[in-house]
Amino acid sequence: MPNMITLTIDDYEATVPEGTTIMKAAEAIGIKIPTICFHDYCTANALCRICVVEVEGARMLTPACVGQISQGMKVHTTSDRIVRARRTILEMLQASVDLSDSADILQLMDEYQVGKQRFEGSVRRDPEVTDDNPMYIRDYAKCILCWRCVQVCATDAQFTYAINFSGRGYDTQISTFFDLPMPLSTCVFCGQCVGVCPTGALKPKRQWLLELGRSPDEIMSLTRTERQSRRSAARV
Ligand code: SF4
Ligand code: FES
Repeated sequence: MPNMITLTIDDYEATVPEGTTIMKAAEAIGIKIPTICFHDYCTANALCRICVVEVEGARMLTPACVGQISQGMKVHTTSDRIVRARRTILEMLQASVDLSDSADILQLMDEYQVGKQRFEGSVRRDPEVTDDNPMYIRDYAKCILCWRCVQVCATDAQFTYAINFSGRGYDTQISTFFDLPMPLSTCVFCGQCVGVCPTGALKPKRQWLLELGRSPDEIMSLTRTERQSRRSAARV
């Protein structure tokens, strides 16, 4: 029987097992804290910080997806300070990344009344779409560096280690080792990275081609030819 902890969240009492995160404790009493990088089946690394909350007595805002509860803790999930922090994160994302395929983030933008003016004119991350295999494309102009794809490719699911962060600071991006084309990496094309990507940065090739206006017949013949030529090349 786990040790139970009682805390208050927005003045409501919650009693949950020790080791629960603030986010899951809030969820247990019906309070939803916004998330972006968090995914139920990936290890949480608190990278986006949209889930920050105020814990009474703590100087800094706490990311609820990793913040642990303690007995008697008092948590606030909405306040001017929290709203300002979340809005700033969304404004910075909007200024640097193509969010056109990120429905959940766009919804948060509306909710937090994010305007365009604050970081207008900032340099956007705008690399070309990488189309190097018949299964999926990588459009890193849409990548928010949430790390979900890297984690499912590694110890959260597949243990394949085909991708990781590369570069530093503004040049940080997701890449294969030595930036090799995906077919030359250890990728087994399981598709789990595509499944957890929240922004459309990773997209099934057929969906991408459909969006570009190609017909289903064209797509079938294109991807089939691509797969066959790769198979023949592998046999040589
Ligand atoms: S490609 Fe998608 S899943 Fe991977 S880090 Fe970027 S946004 Fe996250
Ligand atoms: S959802 Fe908690 S830091 Fe991203």
